[in-house]
Amino acid sequence: MFTHKLIEKGFQQQDLTLIEYGSEFVGVLQLCYPGARVLWMDAARLDSEAIGDSGSYGSVVSGLPLLTMPPRKVLAILSGAFRFLRPHGAFYQFTYGPRVPISMRILDRLGLRAKFVGRTMNNIPPAAVYRITRRPPCRLVVSNDSRAVRSMLPKASWLKVLECLKSSRSA
Ligand SMILES: C[S@@+](CC[C@H](N)C(=O)[O-])C[C@H]1O[C@@H](n2cnc3c(N)ncnc32)[C@H](O)[C@@H]1O
Repeated sequence: MFTHKLIEKGFQQQDLTLIEYGSEFVGVLQLCYPGARVLWMDAARLDSEAIGDSGSYGSVVSGLPLLTMPPRKVLAILSGAFRFLRPHGAFYQFTYGPRVPISMRILDRLGLRAKFVGRTMNNIPPAAVYRITRRPPCRLVVSNDSRAVRSMLPKASWLKVLECLKSSRSA
């Protein structure tokens, strides 16, 4: 279904790598998309497989049932996928659940963020789609001029900085 839609939207089979571990479905994919690279493997092993150069993929589209997987497996899938994604690459995850199917703990550990990007009504029940990307790097601002620093931060963040400074002084 995903692959069919991607090709319908103009993607070339030779630009797609399809990963599936069900032996029956992998055969269907090979038959239907002879031009694509079809890999019969567990997506949790991406980290240890050489499926291309690091940073050589633009996006991942996933219908993997992350909600039913143990956290270690979800962590392995995401860390493996992001190894192959470009710096601004994205991992699109479909889910039937009411929220992003990746815990905050895993997102924090991998330095990722998730954003709801829409819903597809073609599924029953309708599925939600989340876009997972790397967080932008933190900026360290060092200045003797507190007004200059303050002007660079939203008010809420500035109040947090003040709180941290106060508590570190009293510690
Ligand atoms: C909701 S289906 C997505 C269907 C399909 N990819 C499509 O284009 O619509 C989820 C698929 O993920 C596969 N799957 C589940 N766990 C996997 C894993 N650890 N590694 C690779 N494939 C997995 C299942 O066999 C199933 O075919």
